[in-house]
Amino acid sequence: MLTPTTFGTPRSQSALRVLLLGSGELGKELAIAFTRLGVEVHAADRYQNAPAQQVAHYSYTLDMTDGQQVDLLVKKVRPHFVIPEIEAIATDTLEKIAASSQVTVIPTAHATRLTMDREGIRRLAAEELGIPTSPYLFASGEEEMRQAVEKIGLPCIVKPVMSSSGKGQSLLRTHEDIASAWHYALEGGRGSSQGRVIVEGLVKFDYEITLLTVRSLDNKTGKIVTNFCEPIGHLQVDGDYHESWQPVPMDSTVLEKAQAIAEKVTHALGGRGLFGVELFICGDEVLFSEVSPRPHDTGMVTMASGYLSEFELHARAILGLPVDTRLRTPAASAVICAPLATAAPVYRGLASALSLPEVDLRLFGKPDSRPGRRMGVALARGKNIAQARERAKQAAELITIQDA
Ligand SMILES: Nc1ncnc2c1ncn2[C@@H]1O[C@H](COP(=O)(O)OP(=O)(O)OP(=O)(O)O)[C@@H](O)[C@H]1O
Ligand SMILES: [Mg+2]
Repeated sequence: MLTPTTFGTPRSQSALRVLLLGSGELGKELAIAFTRLGVEVHAADRYQNAPAQQVAHYSYTLDMTDGQQVDLLVKKVRPHFVIPEIEAIATDTLEKIAASSQVTVIPTAHATRLTMDREGIRRLAAEELGIPTSPYLFASGEEEMRQAVEKIGLPCIVKPVMSSSGKGQSLLRTHEDIASAWHYALEGGRGSSQGRVIVEGLVKFDYEITLLTVRSLDNKTGKIVTNFCEPIGHLQVDGDYHESWQPVPMDSTVLEKAQAIAEKVTHALGGRGLFGVELFICGDEVLFSEVSPRPHDTGMVTMASGYLSEFELHARAILGLPVDTRLRTPAASAVICAPLATAAPVYRGLASALSLPEVDLRLFGKPDSRPGRRMGVALARGKNIAQARERAKQAAELITIQDA
């Protein structure tokens, strides 16, 4: 793993180059964090003008599930770091790149492969590491899914093994829901694993958190150390995040349990960087749900709450630099979603939203919208969580998205 001792100048022969494979809104903030440290950023995505491409030094459009295309791009850019920013990616090629060249892949090819679908990470956490999770079964095809639902019992949740942001996910309450859940999962799933699902027992959690966990180099000992941000609370609607806030008041023994789980899982995934560990809290029990080996959407709140945002933490950890995960102030985020499909969205209400105290906005600049697509986020600080949440929600509601 490369640990740079010198930092160069972008667009010169001394440049320290990172290649982002995936250029969404999280990649955009990561690109900004890298450019602030003088790193040359190359941003790739499957469509043009993706958010991170708009702020990177160089951008590329290709199919990142196609190993040959990824390989050619790496040969052309000659990055020091390759950073898989999405789940749907040619992981075989990443493994070859990591093994055969000077390039450091972070999150590691191993972590990227294990977290690209729900099966790899769930089997690692529950079956290898013995961490408590919801009861679950995997199934391929409608008949196997039906049997899995019988065994897990109702109510339960069905999700395609490969999907994010709640796509293809349904809550089943009666046997009548099985057929529609199957078709919805089939539609919402991605890639070669289409038709394979996880059936999970519905957990009646008290609340859920994202524990941002950072594996970074301790410059004194040369060893990797693990640090945690304060827990982030969030509200999900139909499996997609709408609001998040930080910190979440937690009993210290429960927090320690959560941190121990996060440390175990991220240690098994390896490498450096920031991880978003999703956990369900039920009384004094902590259940592992899933993990992103990269900044997490609910972690956007850290742009308002932290001394360093999750993007700055990730960039520093990748580069082998020290991190500071302390909370600066309570804050919240609220998502701005598009109500309609358009190829030229216009945003109104910015002046009203930004006239609220301690409020800020991130508009992602996505080139087109569709109903429900996440187009931006409102951030707010406050003297406590309630005030921060109220401000963020109000600000998000004041932004309207229309067709030009
Ligand atoms: N077994 C479960 N019991 C109760 N609630 C669940 C369960 N699984 C998922 N959920 C709810 O649905 C949300 C989304 O689930 P999950 O994180 O597995 O999906 P996702 O598509 O990967 O979402 P994202 O990409 O937004 O993290 C969870 O944050 C939680 O609120
Ligand atoms: Mg999730």
